[in-house]
Amino acid sequence: MPLTTFVTICRRWAPPLLCAALAACATVGQAPAFSSFVVLGEHGAAVARVLIDAPACPDIVIDQRPQAMAVRAPAATLALRSTPSAAADSKPAAFPLLTCEAPLPASASQASVLGRALPLPAAAPQRIVVIGDTGCRLQKNSHSYQACNDGAAYPFAAIAAAAAAWRPELVIHVGDYHYRENACPDGNAGCAGSPWGYGWDAWNADFFAPGAALLQAAPWIMARGNHENCLRGGQGYWRLLDPRPLLAGRDCNLAADDADGNYSDPYAVPIGQDTQLLVLDTANTTWKGLKPGDPGYDKYRDLYRKLDALAQQAPRNLGIAHHPLLGMGADRKADGALVLLPGDAGLQQAFGSLNAQLLPAAIQAMLSGHVHLWEQVSFASDHPSQFISGFSGTAEDTVPLPERLPDGVTPAPGARVEQFSSWVDGFGFMSMERLGADQWLVQVHDQQGRVRNSCRLDGKRSRCELAQVK
Ligand SMILES: [Fe+2]
Repeated sequence: MPLTTFVTICRRWAPPLLCAALAACATVGQAPAFSSFVVLGEHGAAVARVLIDAPACPDIVIDQRPQAMAVRAPAATLALRSTPSAAADSKPAAFPLLTCEAPLPASASQASVLGRALPLPAAAPQRIVVIGDTGCRLQKNSHSYQACNDGAAYPFAAIAAAAAAWRPELVIHVGDYHYRENACPDGNAGCAGSPWGYGWDAWNADFFAPGAALLQAAPWIMARGNHENCLRGGQGYWRLLDPRPLLAGRDCNLAADDADGNYSDPYAVPIGQDTQLLVLDTANTTWKGLKPGDPGYDKYRDLYRKLDALAQQAPRNLGIAHHPLLGMGADRKADGALVLLPGDAGLQQAFGSLNAQLLPAAIQAMLSGHVHLWEQVSFASDHPSQFISGFSGTAEDTVPLPERLPDGVTPAPGARVEQFSSWVDGFGFMSMERLGADQWLVQVHDQQGRVRNSCRLDGKRSRCELAQVK
Protein backbone atom coordinates (compact mmCIF):
# COMPACT_ATOMS: atom_id res chain seq x y z
CA MET A 1 0.00 0.00 0.00
CA PRO A 2 1.46 3.42 -0.85
CA LEU A 3 2.23 5.49 2.22
CA THR A 4 -0.12 8.25 1.03
CA THR A 5 -3.07 5.86 1.07
CA PHE A 6 -1.92 4.38 4.33
CA VAL A 7 -1.74 7.77 6.05
CA THR A 8 -5.18 8.75 4.79
CA ILE A 9 -6.79 5.56 6.00
CA CYS A 10 -4.94 5.65 9.25
CA ARG A 11 -5.89 9.21 10.05
CA ARG A 12 -9.51 8.44 9.36
CA TRP A 13 -9.95 5.12 11.10
CA ALA A 14 -7.21 4.15 13.51
CA PRO A 15 -6.19 5.49 16.92
CA PRO A 16 -3.04 7.57 16.44
CA LEU A 17 -0.73 5.31 18.44
CA LEU A 18 -1.84 2.25 16.51
CA CYS A 19 -1.46 4.20 13.30
CA ALA A 20 2.09 5.11 14.23
CA ALA A 21 2.97 1.51 15.10
CA LEU A 22 1.55 0.24 11.83
CA ALA A 23 3.45 2.86 9.87
CA ALA A 24 6.68 1.80 11.52
CA CYS A 25 6.04 -1.81 10.46
CA ALA A 26 5.10 -0.72 6.96
CA THR A 27 8.48 0.95 6.46
CA VAL A 28 10.77 -1.74 7.91
CA GLY A 29 13.41 -2.71 5.38
CA GLN A 30 12.52 0.04 2.94
CA ALA A 31 14.06 3.40 2.16
CA PRO A 32 12.33 6.05 4.24
CA ALA A 33 8.99 6.91 2.67
CA PHE A 34 9.10 10.32 4.25
CA SER A 35 11.83 12.63 5.54
CA SER A 36 11.83 13.87 9.11
CA PHE A 37 14.19 16.11 11.01
CA VAL A 38 14.42 18.75 13.72
CA VAL A 39 15.87 22.16 12.96
CA LEU A 40 16.86 24.81 15.52
CA GLY A 41 16.07 28.46 14.94
CA GLU A 42 15.73 31.79 16.74
CA HIS A 43 16.49 31.51 20.48
CA GLY A 44 17.19 27.82 19.92
CA ALA A 45 13.52 27.03 19.31
CA ALA A 46 13.16 23.54 17.84
CA VAL A 47 10.86 22.82 14.90
CA ALA A 48 9.95 19.30 13.78
CA ARG A 49 9.64 18.94 9.99
CA VAL A 50 8.16 16.13 7.95
CA LEU A 51 8.31 15.98 4.15
CA ILE A 52 5.70 13.58 2.91
CA ASP A 53 3.72 12.72 -0.19
CA ALA A 54 0.31 12.46 1.46
CA PRO A 55 -3.06 14.22 1.31
CA ALA A 56 -2.59 15.65 4.79
CA CYS A 57 0.15 16.11 7.35
CA PRO A 58 0.50 13.26 9.86
CA ASP A 59 0.12 13.84 13.55
CA ILE A 60 3.17 14.37 15.72
CA VAL A 61 3.16 12.53 19.04
CA ILE A 62 4.82 14.56 21.80
CA ASP A 63 5.07 12.87 25.21
CA GLN A 64 2.34 10.39 24.22
CA ARG A 65 -0.04 13.13 23.08
CA PRO A 66 -0.85 13.24 19.36
CA GLN A 67 -1.34 16.64 17.79
CA ALA A 68 -1.70 17.99 14.29
CA MET A 69 1.29 19.21 12.28
CA ALA A 70 0.73 22.35 10.22
CA VAL A 71 1.26 22.52 6.47
CA ARG A 72 4.27 24.78 5.97
CA ALA A 73 4.12 24.42 2.20
CA PRO A 74 1.59 22.50 0.08
CA ALA A 75 2.57 20.38 -2.89
CA ALA A 76 3.22 22.69 -5.83
CA THR A 77 5.02 23.10 -9.12
CA LEU A 78 6.47 26.59 -9.07
CA ALA A 79 6.46 28.71 -12.21
CA LEU A 80 9.84 28.83 -13.93
CA ARG A 81 11.90 31.74 -12.69
CA SER A 82 15.31 33.05 -13.75
CA THR A 83 18.21 30.74 -12.88
CA PRO A 84 21.94 30.86 -13.72
CA SER A 85 21.25 28.51 -16.64
CA ALA A 86 19.87 29.06 -20.12
CA ALA A 87 16.13 28.44 -20.49
CA ALA A 88 16.82 25.15 -22.26
CA ASP A 89 18.71 23.94 -19.18
CA SER A 90 16.09 25.08 -16.65
CA LYS A 91 12.68 23.80 -15.63
CA PRO A 92 10.00 24.70 -13.09
CA ALA A 93 10.75 23.41 -9.58
CA ALA A 94 8.26 20.70 -8.64
CA PHE A 95 7.63 19.86 -4.98
CA PRO A 96 5.02 17.08 -5.15
CA LEU A 97 4.87 16.67 -1.38
CA LEU A 98 3.87 18.48 1.77
CA THR A 99 6.25 20.26 4.07
CA CYS A 100 4.74 19.75 7.53
CA GLU A 101 5.92 21.30 10.77
CA ALA A 102 5.25 21.59 14.47
CA PRO A 103 7.08 23.44 17.24
CA LEU A 104 8.78 21.17 19.78
CA PRO A 105 8.44 22.54 23.30
CA ALA A 106 11.66 22.66 25.30
CA SER A 107 9.95 20.48 27.92
CA ALA A 108 9.33 17.61 25.47
CA SER A 109 11.01 14.36 26.46
CA GLN A 110 9.79 12.25 23.52
CA ALA A 111 8.51 12.97 20.04
CA SER A 112 7.70 10.83 17.02
CA VAL A 113 5.94 10.90 13.67
CA LEU A 114 4.43 7.78 12.09
CA GLY A 115 6.36 5.66 14.57
CA ARG A 116 9.74 7.23 13.86
CA ALA A 117 11.39 8.94 16.83
CA LEU A 118 12.54 12.52 16.38
CA PRO A 119 15.82 13.69 17.92
CA LEU A 120 15.30 16.22 20.70
CA PRO A 121 17.67 19.11 21.45
CA ALA A 122 20.14 18.96 24.34
CA ALA A 123 20.15 22.16 26.41
CA ALA A 124 23.94 22.13 26.45
CA PRO A 125 25.24 19.91 23.62
CA GLN A 126 28.73 18.55 24.29
CA ARG A 127 29.20 16.76 20.96
CA ILE A 128 28.69 18.64 17.70
CA VAL A 129 29.22 17.53 14.11
CA VAL A 130 30.03 20.20 11.50
CA ILE A 131 29.57 19.38 7.81
CA GLY A 132 29.21 21.44 4.67
CA ASP A 133 29.02 21.47 0.88
CA THR A 134 27.34 18.10 0.59
CA GLY A 135 25.61 17.91 -2.81
CA CYS A 136 26.71 16.30 -6.07
CA ARG A 137 27.83 18.90 -8.58
CA LEU A 138 26.08 18.79 -11.96
CA GLN A 139 26.65 22.16 -13.55
CA LYS A 140 26.72 22.90 -17.26
CA ASN A 141 28.17 26.41 -16.96
CA SER A 142 31.37 25.08 -15.39
CA HIS A 143 31.33 21.77 -17.31
CA SER A 144 31.41 20.00 -13.94
CA TYR A 145 29.75 16.61 -13.66
CA GLN A 146 30.54 14.73 -10.47
CA ALA A 147 29.96 10.97 -10.55
CA CYS A 148 26.88 11.02 -8.32
CA ASN A 149 26.35 7.28 -8.86
CA ASP A 150 29.80 6.42 -7.45
CA GLY A 151 30.01 6.37 -3.66
CA ALA A 152 33.77 7.00 -3.80
CA ALA A 153 33.41 10.10 -5.96
CA TYR A 154 30.31 11.35 -4.12
CA PRO A 155 30.54 10.02 -0.53
CA PHE A 156 27.98 12.15 1.36
CA ALA A 157 25.87 9.12 2.34
CA ALA A 158 28.91 7.39 3.90
CA ILE A 159 29.97 10.60 5.64
CA ALA A 160 26.46 11.15 7.03
CA ALA A 161 26.41 7.57 8.36
CA ALA A 162 29.89 7.92 9.91
CA ALA A 163 28.93 11.25 11.48
CA ALA A 164 25.73 9.71 12.88
CA ALA A 165 27.75 6.83 14.34
CA TRP A 166 29.88 9.40 16.20
CA ARG A 167 26.66 10.14 18.18
CA PRO A 168 26.41 13.92 17.94
CA GLU A 169 23.97 15.90 20.06
CA LEU A 170 23.83 18.62 17.44
CA VAL A 171 24.66 18.79 13.73
CA ILE A 172 25.67 22.04 12.03
CA HIS A 173 25.49 22.22 8.24
CA VAL A 174 27.37 25.29 7.08
CA GLY A 175 25.50 25.53 3.78
CA ASP A 176 25.46 24.39 0.13
CA TYR A 177 23.11 21.43 0.11
CA HIS A 178 21.92 21.52 -3.49
CA TYR A 179 24.26 21.00 -6.44
CA ARG A 180 22.36 19.09 -9.16
CA GLU A 181 21.51 22.11 -11.27
CA ASN A 182 21.64 20.73 -14.81
CA ALA A 183 21.06 17.44 -16.60
CA CYS A 184 23.76 14.80 -16.71
CA PRO A 185 25.06 14.69 -20.32
CA ASP A 186 24.07 11.73 -22.45
CA GLY A 187 26.62 8.95 -22.24
CA ASN A 188 28.04 9.97 -18.85
CA ALA A 189 27.62 6.83 -16.74
CA GLY A 190 28.89 8.56 -13.59
CA CYS A 191 25.79 10.67 -13.23
CA ALA A 192 23.36 8.92 -15.60
CA GLY A 193 19.79 9.01 -14.38
CA SER A 194 20.33 11.73 -11.79
CA PRO A 195 17.49 14.16 -11.22
CA TRP A 196 18.37 17.82 -11.80
CA GLY A 197 16.96 21.32 -11.38
CA TYR A 198 15.71 22.97 -8.22
CA GLY A 199 12.74 20.72 -7.36
CA TRP A 200 12.24 17.97 -4.80
CA ASP A 201 13.76 15.10 -6.79
CA ALA A 202 17.14 16.84 -6.95
CA TRP A 203 16.91 18.01 -3.31
CA ASN A 204 16.10 14.47 -2.22
CA ALA A 205 18.97 12.91 -4.17
CA ASP A 206 21.44 15.58 -3.00
CA PHE A 207 20.46 15.87 0.63
CA PHE A 208 17.50 14.11 2.21
CA ALA A 209 18.15 10.57 0.97
CA PRO A 210 21.94 10.43 1.55
CA GLY A 211 21.66 12.47 4.76
CA ALA A 212 18.84 10.41 6.33
CA ALA A 213 20.92 8.70 9.04
CA LEU A 214 22.36 11.99 10.24
CA LEU A 215 18.98 13.75 10.07
CA GLN A 216 17.69 11.17 12.54
CA ALA A 217 20.74 11.33 14.83
CA ALA A 218 20.37 14.83 16.30
CA PRO A 219 18.74 18.22 15.76
CA TRP A 220 20.37 20.39 13.11
CA ILE A 221 21.35 23.96 12.50
CA MET A 222 20.93 24.60 8.79
CA ALA A 223 22.93 27.59 7.59
CA ARG A 224 22.35 28.86 4.07
CA GLY A 225 24.94 28.74 1.29
CA ASN A 226 25.21 30.49 -2.05
CA HIS A 227 23.76 27.37 -3.69
CA GLU A 228 20.57 28.29 -1.85
CA ASN A 229 20.33 31.88 -3.07
CA CYS A 230 17.17 32.78 -5.00
CA LEU A 231 18.64 32.14 -8.45
CA ARG A 232 19.53 28.59 -7.45
CA GLY A 233 18.12 26.39 -4.65
CA GLY A 234 16.45 29.26 -2.76
CA GLN A 235 12.91 27.99 -3.29
CA GLY A 236 13.80 24.65 -1.73
CA TYR A 237 15.79 26.29 1.05
CA TRP A 238 12.84 28.37 2.26
CA ARG A 239 10.28 25.62 1.73
CA LEU A 240 12.26 22.77 3.29
CA LEU A 241 15.07 23.94 5.57
CA ASP A 242 14.91 27.43 7.04
CA PRO A 243 13.69 27.26 10.67
CA ARG A 244 11.63 30.47 10.46
CA PRO A 245 8.14 31.01 9.00
CA LEU A 246 7.77 30.62 5.23
CA LEU A 247 6.68 34.07 4.06
CA ALA A 248 5.22 35.02 0.68
CA GLY A 249 7.75 37.34 -0.93
CA ARG A 250 10.67 35.79 0.98
CA ASP A 251 10.27 32.45 -0.78
CA CYS A 252 12.40 33.13 -3.90
CA ASN A 253 9.42 32.31 -6.13
CA LEU A 254 9.45 35.65 -7.99
CA ALA A 255 12.69 37.24 -9.13
CA ALA A 256 11.11 40.63 -8.39
CA ASP A 257 11.17 39.71 -4.68
CA ASP A 258 14.78 38.54 -4.58
CA ALA A 259 15.91 41.59 -2.59
CA ASP A 260 13.91 40.06 0.27
CA GLY A 261 14.38 36.37 -0.47
CA ASN A 262 18.17 36.53 -0.77
CA TYR A 263 18.75 37.88 2.73
CA SER A 264 17.58 37.16 6.26
CA ASP A 265 18.44 38.23 9.78
CA PRO A 266 20.95 36.37 11.93
CA TYR A 267 19.70 34.34 14.89
CA ALA A 268 21.17 32.97 18.09
CA VAL A 269 21.01 29.40 19.39
CA PRO A 270 22.09 29.09 23.06
CA ILE A 271 24.23 25.99 23.77
CA GLY A 272 24.88 26.31 27.51
CA GLN A 273 27.69 27.86 29.58
CA ASP A 274 26.71 31.35 28.41
CA THR A 275 27.57 30.46 24.84
CA GLN A 276 25.59 31.08 21.66
CA LEU A 277 25.83 29.88 18.10
CA LEU A 278 25.16 32.84 15.79
CA VAL A 279 23.81 31.78 12.41
CA LEU A 280 24.35 34.11 9.45
CA ASP A 281 22.67 34.04 6.04
CA THR A 282 25.40 35.04 3.56
CA ALA A 283 23.80 33.37 0.53
CA ASN A 284 24.10 36.33 -1.82
CA THR A 285 27.53 37.77 -1.08
CA THR A 286 30.22 37.77 -3.74
CA TRP A 287 33.95 37.17 -3.73
CA LYS A 288 34.18 40.01 -6.24
CA GLY A 289 33.41 42.46 -3.43
CA LEU A 290 30.65 44.91 -2.62
CA LYS A 291 30.83 48.67 -2.49
CA PRO A 292 28.51 51.50 -1.40
CA GLY A 293 25.55 51.54 -3.77
CA ASP A 294 25.52 47.79 -4.38
CA PRO A 295 22.27 46.36 -2.97
CA GLY A 296 24.12 43.71 -1.00
CA TYR A 297 26.43 46.26 0.63
CA ASP A 298 23.67 47.77 2.76
CA LYS A 299 22.09 44.36 3.39
CA TYR A 300 25.33 42.97 4.82
CA ARG A 301 26.00 46.14 6.84
CA ASP A 302 22.56 45.56 8.35
CA LEU A 303 23.50 41.91 8.94
CA TYR A 304 26.64 43.02 10.78
CA ARG A 305 24.74 45.40 13.06
CA LYS A 306 22.28 42.66 14.02
CA LEU A 307 25.10 40.16 14.49
CA ASP A 308 26.85 42.63 16.80
CA ALA A 309 23.68 43.08 18.88
CA LEU A 310 23.24 39.30 19.19
CA ALA A 311 26.90 38.77 20.10
CA GLN A 312 26.53 41.15 23.03
CA GLN A 313 23.89 38.90 24.58
CA ALA A 314 26.52 36.38 25.72
CA PRO A 315 30.19 36.41 26.70
CA ARG A 316 31.00 33.62 24.24
CA ASN A 317 29.81 33.04 20.70
CA LEU A 318 30.63 30.78 17.78
CA GLY A 319 29.64 32.28 14.42
CA ILE A 320 28.33 30.19 11.52
CA ALA A 321 28.62 31.73 8.05
CA HIS A 322 28.82 29.79 4.82
CA HIS A 323 31.45 32.11 3.33
CA PRO A 324 34.69 32.30 5.33
CA LEU A 325 35.82 35.84 6.10
CA LEU A 326 39.10 34.62 7.58
CA GLY A 327 40.07 31.54 5.55
CA MET A 328 42.23 30.86 2.51
CA GLY A 329 41.61 29.05 -0.74
CA ALA A 330 43.96 28.18 -3.58
CA ASP A 331 43.69 28.29 -7.35
CA ARG A 332 46.00 28.12 -10.33
CA LYS A 333 46.57 30.72 -13.02
CA ALA A 334 46.50 29.67 -16.67
CA ASP A 335 50.29 29.26 -16.54
CA GLY A 336 49.99 26.88 -13.57
CA ALA A 337 51.19 29.35 -10.93
CA LEU A 338 49.60 28.98 -7.49
CA VAL A 339 47.29 31.79 -6.35
CA LEU A 340 46.24 32.03 -2.70
CA LEU A 341 42.75 33.45 -2.33
CA PRO A 342 41.68 35.51 0.70
CA GLY A 343 38.32 35.47 2.53
CA ASP A 344 35.04 36.62 1.02
CA ALA A 345 35.54 40.18 -0.23
CA GLY A 346 31.83 41.10 -0.16
CA LEU A 347 31.48 40.38 3.55
CA GLN A 348 34.90 41.81 4.37
CA GLN A 349 34.02 45.11 2.73
CA ALA A 350 30.52 45.40 4.21
CA PHE A 351 31.47 44.24 7.73
CA GLY A 352 34.82 46.04 7.57
CA SER A 353 33.09 49.37 6.92
CA LEU A 354 31.62 49.08 10.44
CA ASN A 355 34.41 47.24 12.27
CA ALA A 356 37.99 47.04 11.05
CA GLN A 357 38.30 43.77 13.01
CA LEU A 358 35.49 42.40 10.76
CA LEU A 359 33.67 40.51 13.53
CA PRO A 360 32.35 41.35 17.01
CA ALA A 361 34.90 40.87 19.82
CA ALA A 362 32.74 38.28 21.63
CA ILE A 363 32.98 35.82 18.71
CA GLN A 364 35.49 33.11 19.56
CA ALA A 365 35.53 31.22 16.27
CA MET A 366 33.82 31.12 12.90
CA LEU A 367 32.53 27.92 11.28
CA SER A 368 32.27 28.05 7.49
CA GLY A 369 32.32 26.04 4.28
CA HIS A 370 32.19 27.17 0.64
CA VAL A 371 35.83 26.24 0.06
CA HIS A 372 35.79 22.50 -0.57
CA LEU A 373 38.41 21.39 1.90
CA TRP A 374 39.04 21.37 5.65
CA GLU A 375 41.01 24.22 7.20
CA GLN A 376 41.88 25.90 10.50
CA VAL A 377 43.35 29.36 10.96
CA SER A 378 44.34 31.03 14.24
CA PHE A 379 45.55 34.60 14.54
CA ALA A 380 48.13 36.59 16.48
CA SER A 381 45.79 39.56 16.03
CA ASP A 382 42.49 39.62 17.94
CA HIS A 383 40.49 37.85 15.23
CA PRO A 384 38.46 34.73 15.98
CA SER A 385 39.75 31.36 14.82
CA GLN A 386 38.36 30.22 11.48
CA PHE A 387 37.37 26.64 10.71
CA ILE A 388 36.27 25.54 7.23
CA SER A 389 34.34 22.29 6.96
CA GLY A 390 33.36 22.27 3.29
CA PHE A 391 34.59 18.73 2.58
CA SER A 392 31.50 16.58 3.08
CA GLY A 393 30.53 15.37 -0.40
CA THR A 394 30.87 17.97 -3.15
CA ALA A 395 33.83 17.52 -5.50
CA GLU A 396 36.91 18.75 -3.65
CA ASP A 397 39.15 21.72 -4.37
CA THR A 398 42.37 19.94 -5.20
CA VAL A 399 44.89 22.76 -5.63
CA PRO A 400 47.23 22.20 -2.68
CA LEU A 401 47.62 24.82 0.03
CA PRO A 402 51.15 25.33 1.35
CA GLU A 403 51.99 23.81 4.74
CA ARG A 404 52.88 27.31 5.94
CA LEU A 405 51.46 30.51 4.54
CA PRO A 406 54.17 32.74 3.07
CA ASP A 407 55.03 35.78 5.20
CA GLY A 408 52.53 38.57 4.77
CA VAL A 409 49.85 36.37 3.22
CA THR A 410 46.59 36.85 5.09
CA PRO A 411 42.92 36.07 4.49
CA ALA A 412 41.87 39.58 5.56
CA PRO A 413 43.39 43.04 5.93
CA GLY A 414 44.87 43.43 9.42
CA ALA A 415 44.64 39.75 10.35
CA ARG A 416 47.99 38.16 11.28
CA VAL A 417 48.01 34.38 10.91
CA GLU A 418 49.69 32.46 13.75
CA GLN A 419 48.60 28.85 13.11
CA PHE A 420 47.36 27.28 9.92
CA SER A 421 46.28 23.73 9.16
CA SER A 422 44.53 22.16 6.20
CA TRP A 423 43.38 18.98 4.52
CA VAL A 424 43.04 19.32 0.77
CA ASP A 425 41.48 16.57 -1.36
CA GLY A 426 40.06 14.51 1.51
CA PHE A 427 36.39 13.97 2.28
CA GLY A 428 34.93 13.87 5.77
CA PHE A 429 33.37 15.75 8.66
CA MET A 430 34.50 17.83 11.63
CA SER A 431 33.55 17.25 15.26
CA MET A 432 33.63 19.54 18.28
CA GLU A 433 33.63 18.22 21.85
CA ARG A 434 33.24 20.66 24.67
CA LEU A 435 36.13 20.68 27.15
CA GLY A 436 35.22 23.84 29.05
CA ALA A 437 33.38 27.14 28.80
CA ASP A 438 35.51 28.37 25.89
CA GLN A 439 37.54 25.25 25.12
CA TRP A 440 36.74 22.66 22.48
CA LEU A 441 38.44 19.58 21.07
CA VAL A 442 38.04 19.90 17.31
CA GLN A 443 38.72 16.78 15.26
CA VAL A 444 38.86 16.08 11.56
CA HIS A 445 37.39 12.74 10.48
CA ASP A 446 37.64 11.00 7.14
CA GLN A 447 34.62 9.45 5.46
CA GLN A 448 34.96 6.27 7.55
CA GLY A 449 34.96 8.36 10.72
CA ARG A 450 38.69 7.89 11.47
CA VAL A 451 40.35 10.88 13.15
CA ARG A 452 42.93 12.44 10.83
CA ASN A 453 43.78 15.59 12.80
CA SER A 454 43.09 16.96 16.28
CA CYS A 455 42.93 20.59 17.29
CA ARG A 456 42.11 22.57 20.40
CA LEU A 457 40.18 25.79 20.42
CA ASP A 458 40.97 27.82 23.52
CA GLY A 459 39.33 31.25 23.56
CA LYS A 460 40.01 32.74 20.15
CA ARG A 461 43.21 30.73 19.62
CA SER A 462 43.40 27.29 18.11
CA ARG A 463 46.18 24.84 17.38
CA CYS A 464 46.23 21.51 15.53
CA GLU A 465 48.56 18.54 15.86
CA LEU A 466 49.24 18.41 12.11
CA ALA A 467 49.83 21.41 9.88
CA GLN A 468 48.68 19.34 6.95
CA VAL A 469 46.75 16.10 6.63
CA LYS A 470 48.20 14.04 3.80
FE1 LIG B 1 29.39 27.83 -1.44
